[in-house]
Amino acid sequence: MNSRIAGTGGYLPENVMTNADLEKLVETSDEWIEERTGIRQRHIAVAGETTCDLAEKAARQAIEAAGLTEQDIDLIIVATTTPDRIFPSTACLLQARLDIHGCAAFDVQAVCTGFVYALSVAEKFIRTGSATRALVVGAETTSRIIDWSDRSTCVLFGDGAGAVVLEATDAPGILSTHLHADGAYRDLLTVPEGVSQGFAKMQAGEAYITMQGNEVFKMAVKTLGRIVDETLAANDMQKSDINWLIPHQANIRIIKATAKKLNMSMEQVVVTVDHHGNTSAASIPLALDVAVRDGRIKRGETLLLEAFGGGFTWGSALLKY
Ligand code: UT7
Repeated sequence: MNSRIAGTGGYLPENVMTNADLEKLVETSDEWIEERTGIRQRHIAVAGETTCDLAEKAARQAIEAAGLTEQDIDLIIVATTTPDRIFPSTACLLQARLDIHGCAAFDVQAVCTGFVYALSVAEKFIRTGSATRALVVGAETTSRIIDWSDRSTCVLFGDGAGAVVLEATDAPGILSTHLHADGAYRDLLTVPEGVSQGFAKMQAGEAYITMQGNEVFKMAVKTLGRIVDETLAANDMQKSDINWLIPHQANIRIIKATAKKLNMSMEQVVVTVDHHGNTSAASIPLALDVAVRDGRIKRGETLLLEAFGGGFTWGSALLKY
């Protein structure tokens, strides 16, 4: 049994923060941010607006776009690093919002690679007959783990949610997924705080994203180049067989490097980093939804999704839309 993307959805908080707004917070400039990252603005959840709030809006859109109702869903996976609660999972909170009862629901935590991980898990549930219509969501309120006085990180991230409904089908859909991780790099991009370590840093106001940006950048470019080769080889495909690249949206320079590696023109790459910033696990489903809704991505086309993030984790999915 194959699985295909039956519908997509996306939601961004209404509140927009521009580079000019950030100039008032930290020693930075619109020019620096745009030149080094490609980001011009990002959406930031207002106080009280949670990851589950964003996920719900994206999920309902995806279910509607698939021509289904909430009751048709028999698996819910939410990729997030910024859950509403320590437990229950955001997937269970979302399940309750959608008035769905009984199906499996759980979160996947692979930071910026989270959506690719979640999609891969859902695809395996469908392939083995354990689910037929999976709701797969990437949702984040990354703004909550940002140190707004640290210019090296606060200019990069944004909040949002993207969702797909993955449906069992006989036709080609997801062709392959490739997941990797190497915890040896755990300290290069991290929030060094957690339940089991205690909340000392949180109490001290230090439970924020820390990143050695330059190291992460170099590893991301190198690793994404490798996974592109791995994905094409696994499917016996050429670079020219890919119609669309839907990359994780961390930095326009990383995206351009991957496009170059694929000999793809930027016209074939979905870019949202300029308007969304880095929304971590939400960035790929949001970008997919944008390009499906504006008519760029059409049924039958071949899409390559790829991501790199904290862990380090990295992954890809090749699919027929
Ligand atoms: O999504 C998960 C994966 N994450 C990523 O893939 C992010 C990867 N990293 C990056 O995107 C880039 O490394 C950054 C955008 C974070 C930084 O760009 P960079 O070209 O690597 O800059 P840098 O860190 O080497 O810093 C260059 C200079 C430094 O000043 P000095 O030491 O050269 O005087 C920084 O202090 O830019 C300075 N700087 C800033 N200046 C103005 C750092 N942040 C800012 C800022 N505004 N916001």
